[in-house]
Amino acid sequence: MRTTKSIDELIREAQQTQELRRVLGPVNLVALGIGAIIGAGIFVLTGQAAAQYAGPAIALSFVISGIGCVFAALCYAEFASLIPIAGSAYTYAYATLGRFFAWVIGWDLLLEYLFGASTVAVGWSGYVSSWLADLGIRIPREWASAPFAYDPKTHQWLQTGAFFNVPAAFIIAVLTTLLVLGIRESATFNNLIVLVKVGVIVLFIVFGAAYVNVANWTPFIPDNTGQFGHYGWSGVLRGAGVIFFAYIGFDAVSTAAQEARNPQRDMPIGIIGSLGISTLLYILVALVMTGVVNYRELGVPDPMAVAVNAMQGASGEPLYWLRHAVKLGAIAGLSSVILVLLLGQPRILYTMAKDGLLPPFFAQVHERFRTPARATILTGTVAGLISGLFPIGILGELVSIGTLLAFTIVCIAVIVLRYTRPDLPRPFRVPLMPVIPILGALVSLIQMVSLPLDTWIRLLGWMAIGLLVYALYGQRHSRVRGQNWSG
Ligand code: ALA
Repeated sequence: MRTTKSIDELIREAQQTQELRRVLGPVNLVALGIGAIIGAGIFVLTGQAAAQYAGPAIALSFVISGIGCVFAALCYAEFASLIPIAGSAYTYAYATLGRFFAWVIGWDLLLEYLFGASTVAVGWSGYVSSWLADLGIRIPREWASAPFAYDPKTHQWLQTGAFFNVPAAFIIAVLTTLLVLGIRESATFNNLIVLVKVGVIVLFIVFGAAYVNVANWTPFIPDNTGQFGHYGWSGVLRGAGVIFFAYIGFDAVSTAAQEARNPQRDMPIGIIGSLGISTLLYILVALVMTGVVNYRELGVPDPMAVAVNAMQGASGEPLYWLRHAVKLGAIAGLSSVILVLLLGQPRILYTMAKDGLLPPFFAQVHERFRTPARATILTGTVAGLISGLFPIGILGELVSIGTLLAFTIVCIAVIVLRYTRPDLPRPFRVPLMPVIPILGALVSLIQMVSLPLDTWIRLLGWMAIGLLVYALYGQRHSRVRGQNWSG
């Protein structure tokens, strides 16, 4: 008995189903990718990773992590052009490795999308609080931070005295509403925000370049302190592991495959185009940031604002307008990341429910809005609660490990499918087969290994819950069960 889904069946499904609207073109898809990629990673984590691990060589960390992502992106692009239906890595795993792996990856993707949206919402809350404070409006700390914190030294959860991160849950509620209303409206909103955040980043690079003091880049790789990961080459590697978070999102383009007008051609453009543009901007921002101020000063929640403060206008005044622009750009940019992650999650649930691995509730499409409204609302509610309760560090590491696991499985699946179905028409092919997918899987695994043991334990705990749900529901209700697919 086979439990893989036939590719031919999947492609037919994609052509027949008219439930979701096909409205997204190549520009929208690249914007969708940039919307998901550029966020908390560059606006928050770059400064911290430079200050603690890599120094100015954080730019090299971006190159290393970016190369790993390019390998994975090529694999995603091959799949997304071949199997252009909603569901992303989940669908690819179903078609190649079978139902069980599909479930594993579907459950794992909850970590990336649901928890990812929550993580970035916590970052959004930080920037909003900081910007409002500039205007003299203070949100009480108890209502703008997590009630729980984790001490990695004692391995204990602590209560912080705060109640709930209200701004974080608020932004999730607003964006969930938007997503229920419709994909076209959401895409337009996303395009606008992407323009704002890329504009702000380009302004930062262009203005900042004039203030770079080469002395801040010397030495480019600060001497290692004697401890692994604290500067030196090992610091560059750990920096790469930490800022991997900044690249998450290009794969989200593939969740919208069923809403793309011409997925065979445009999926690879969306995935690789958005990753390429973001990588270039990241490397330039990292160089400017560490060139304008000493890397030791960047370990703050708003490192770009710190760099702007160091840029003096002709009269010796800081460039206040640029500081406001950067904060507003970050707030807008973080919103679009949350939006795309919240867009991807219900579409994965939708596909899983269509396959019978989840209850039909998740596959219901709203009659008027033609969006998976119920799954969207449930996703938003859970993401809002998580963002209100937990701190950014714990969430971010879980998201990274979950995403790296998905990348690893996708890289392996691409090789499997080349051998099991060499005959399929592949509008886009990963070059240098099987070297690139193998390298993609290896780089992802190495980055997973660099994450703390606690994060691994959480990943395994999450997967154990998933297996229980699978055993109790998915295995019994799967539509593919017992059928002998020819493909
Ligand atoms: N890459 C996304 C970010 O940096 C998740 O916020």
